[in-house]
Amino acid sequence: MKAVYTDVLIIGSGVAGLVCAEKLSMSMNVRIITNSSVTSCNSYHAQGGIAASVGKEDSWNDHLTDTLLAGAGHCEARAAESIIKQSKEVFTYLSDAGVTFDTDDKGTLVFGLEGGHRKKRILHAGGDQTGKYIVKALREKLINRNVFYYGTAADLIIQDGRCAGAWCRNETGENEAVFASYTILCTGGFAGLYERSSNVRQADGSGMAMAYRAGAQLCDLEFVQFHPTLLIHNETTHGLVSEAVRGEGGRLIDCEGHPIMEGVHPLKDLAPRDIVAREIQRSRDNGKDVFLDISAITRFRERFPTIFEMCQKANIHLLSGLLPVAPGAHFTMGGIKTDEWGKTSVAGLFAAGECARTGLHGANRLASNSLLEGTGMALRIARKIASHRLKKLRPRPFLPDIERTSLAMPSVVVMREGLSRSAGIVRDGNDMRAYIEYLEQFPFITPSYHHTLDELRCINTHLMAWLVTTSALSRRESRGGHYRRDYPEAREQWKRKTIERRMESHEQ
Ligand code: SIN
Repeated sequence: MKAVYTDVLIIGSGVAGLVCAEKLSMSMNVRIITNSSVTSCNSYHAQGGIAASVGKEDSWNDHLTDTLLAGAGHCEARAAESIIKQSKEVFTYLSDAGVTFDTDDKGTLVFGLEGGHRKKRILHAGGDQTGKYIVKALREKLINRNVFYYGTAADLIIQDGRCAGAWCRNETGENEAVFASYTILCTGGFAGLYERSSNVRQADGSGMAMAYRAGAQLCDLEFVQFHPTLLIHNETTHGLVSEAVRGEGGRLIDCEGHPIMEGVHPLKDLAPRDIVAREIQRSRDNGKDVFLDISAITRFRERFPTIFEMCQKANIHLLSGLLPVAPGAHFTMGGIKTDEWGKTSVAGLFAAGECARTGLHGANRLASNSLLEGTGMALRIARKIASHRLKKLRPRPFLPDIERTSLAMPSVVVMREGLSRSAGIVRDGNDMRAYIEYLEQFPFITPSYHHTLDELRCINTHLMAWLVTTSALSRRESRGGHYRRDYPEAREQWKRKTIERRMESHEQ
């Protein structure tokens, strides 16, 4: 296999990857491996915006309180505090990078409101196009720096007890070993593994699967956030309807016109997402479709151009003022455990963005805290790496797992269906046990250079489905994004308990 060297290898090109690359490529050789076009990362599609306590009426303390409350007693308060305190730095960095956040006629920043925030603190750009503006501005800065390589990372290379890069399938289908002094995983979460999801399908947990096989510690995988309002038409999903729509006055009603959040939670339509999502699901299970009534919102098209266009494409007529909605997987709180500098438990390996678990989100992420986390942690990782004296690695001949292991495994679609059924919005021990048993009939495989891209996807999906479901089965309570019908309450003995996963039980 051809071998090359770069100082820093970044896997994934969402906001976290782009920020790391933008900072580090000023002084080092950086290579971003990305299998996606500009639009195929979740960051690009982020509508709501970026939670940043930078307004005059706001404080980091209030932002922290809301974050901890949403996290349902499972956040790591110190990590949360330090990331929230980066709000100003993140805002300044992104503004300097060319992101123009929305202002009023007088040029004063305008802040949106989303669920769980007791103050308006969501910075947004282009109305509901925040992610697009950020990704475009950062890509623009990288355009002449020669950092993008199109391909798919298959697995990490571990040598002498440290991560030494990754082997990849490049654009032309060749395998290539990319040796690097530092490797940063910015591969996103795994909400794309669910049947109904707001995510791009590439968000399939591949980075977490690679980290796990490399021996890194993963945790909190049972906590999956289901967004209450995906736009659906004839049971087909057409994308996300931002919570900011409810922040501007949108109300959830059932097909008989009853406001479904009345009497359910004091924050009604802006209650924490898990509560709203379950209420919508309950109504739908009872045969009553749910709609977001937007008739009270003036200038909808101007404030929400993306959603407006999405409705047009889906042939949903806005004149009725009713958007048909259903919940879907949106964000995964767990992932690769990192310290405050983004370091994982494997030397030489960092993680940032949704694939990382910093402790900020706990059991349920506060809306729009993820772009803050992804940018803030990427800035820290860049600082950390830049502060080290670089020890260059010599690329060595490399060949992963020579044997071709036969791939008798269910298809990705079948595994997605099983995961959605057993570890979805409402979970149950019996369903999860049955699904785990099913997955365990098939051997857990290490990627080999013979495998096709589809096979690599299958291998990672199999592992991730197993990791998520076994984690969810282990937590015998309900908390935040993890709700079990057989244990419907939060239990004291589970408070502050973290379910960790590290390669041991099915080592090859
Ligand atoms: C939304 O706009 O509702 C999603 C924002 C987020 O999940 O942070």
